[in-house]
Amino acid sequence: MFNEINLDEIDLTESPPSEEPRRQYYFMAKCRELVRKKKEELGRPLSFCIETFGCQMNARDSEKLRGILEEIGYIKSDSESSDFVIYNTCTVRENANLRVYGRLGYLHALKKKNPHMMIGLCGCMMQEPEVVEKLKKSYRFVNLIFGTHNIYKLAELVTEALEQDGMIVDIWKDTDQIVENLPIDRKYPFKSGVNIMFGCNNFCSYCIVPYVRGRERSRLPEEILEEIRRLVDDGVKEIMLLGQNVNSYGRNLAQPLSFAELLEQAAGIDGLERIRFMTSHPKDLSEELIEVMSRYPKICPHLHLPVQSGSTEILRQMNRRYTKESYLALVDRIRASIPDISLTTDIIVGFPGETEEDFMETMDVVEKVRYDSAFTFIYSKRTGTPAAAMDNQIPEEVVKDRFDRLLARVQEIAREQSSRFEGRTMDVLVEAVNEQDSSLVTGRLANNLVVHFPGDASMIGTILPVHLDCCKGFYYIGSTV
Ligand code: 5AD
Ligand code: SF4
Repeated sequence: MFNEINLDEIDLTESPPSEEPRRQYYFMAKCRELVRKKKEELGRPLSFCIETFGCQMNARDSEKLRGILEEIGYIKSDSESSDFVIYNTCTVRENANLRVYGRLGYLHALKKKNPHMMIGLCGCMMQEPEVVEKLKKSYRFVNLIFGTHNIYKLAELVTEALEQDGMIVDIWKDTDQIVENLPIDRKYPFKSGVNIMFGCNNFCSYCIVPYVRGRERSRLPEEILEEIRRLVDDGVKEIMLLGQNVNSYGRNLAQPLSFAELLEQAAGIDGLERIRFMTSHPKDLSEELIEVMSRYPKICPHLHLPVQSGSTEILRQMNRRYTKESYLALVDRIRASIPDISLTTDIIVGFPGETEEDFMETMDVVEKVRYDSAFTFIYSKRTGTPAAAMDNQIPEEVVKDRFDRLLARVQEIAREQSSRFEGRTMDVLVEAVNEQDSSLVTGRLANNLVVHFPGDASMIGTILPVHLDCCKGFYYIGSTV
């Protein structure tokens, strides 16, 4: 865990500093005192549990929240009967919201049994004003509500929540601040995400992300590279650079730098063995990036390239700013430079106005690209987005039928694609002992495919050549060579 400031050296008789991150270290020290006192009162340590919904960005945010809570003296737990439960929420589709409301009912029951319990909600869903109104009205037992822009303030917010009763709500509409160098508790010792940018400026017409994550802000390259170096010194082998649209990284920096340039500099870091990144918007994927990817074996041969739809007309309605033809041409250029590359995608079915012909265009792209895997989604109406106001919404049964046809074909192709490496020997980063069979370990190829092979816990975090004996659908059984 990275620690810039020693909490023992902070003088709590002084008033809190105003500059960050010093201010948060002050509150960590203060909060640690409050937690220590509570622990003495109860005669046991206080536990916490963070449930993460949604994407890689949220997963990384949760690692930051965990780092701060551990620094404060809470003990990590997987149980929702903990003293402090936080839901880090997602709101990209409506059922993500419904799940949170459902589970809040369950938490309320737990809280009635444990009066010391605190409940916190954060993440994208909290950036929606209607959600916060509903929580204030009908979920008064929630102690703390904060958003996506101020997670770094957790220590300050928890201090407040411990010092007073009632619901604390702190939501910012947007921010231009990026606060760095706070504690982080990584889920895996050997791999880590690294945020390179926050927010999104694309405003795809169906998507709520630009409203809840704010405008695009890129971190400084030297901060990113320094964080990667520190992680590598700490044993990390694989880094995933994270951003809503990594291909527009660096455009707004005082000294602009392209994503391809950043990636190349990261690839030059000694000791780092694998780099991946997520997500790439097809409209911004540069020739320079393809060229850099083809030159560095460390850069994983995998691109997540969401197509969303194969119909040029639907893409226009979605405000995606590419056509079916330009997307397919891009895929051809990528494959010509990086022949073995794994391509994955996101597809939405049932966008307003989607005809059977439009849907067949999507099926056609699936046939032509042959994705290694694809996340398929039923269009979900998000209040406040332009698509939600379109009057030609598609009936549920039509969407369901298209979705089933798409999913069947996508899975069939993914199975065929996955098996194309059978018989080869490829490097696997070992992640864990297999959950079903403890004589096996489980790891990932650079292209992200899962491999199970004989081994033990001592192999975790190492990269080993493995013979891919047999493909079982979406994973391999292998043997060490
Ligand atoms: N309905 C369905 N899927 C959506 N996505 C984003 N917004 C919506 C929506 N309103 C999907 C997109 C995106 C992925 C992260 O979630 O496919 O790439
Ligand atoms: Fe949403 Fe489009 Fe931004 Fe992705 S690029 S987060 S789909 S608005």
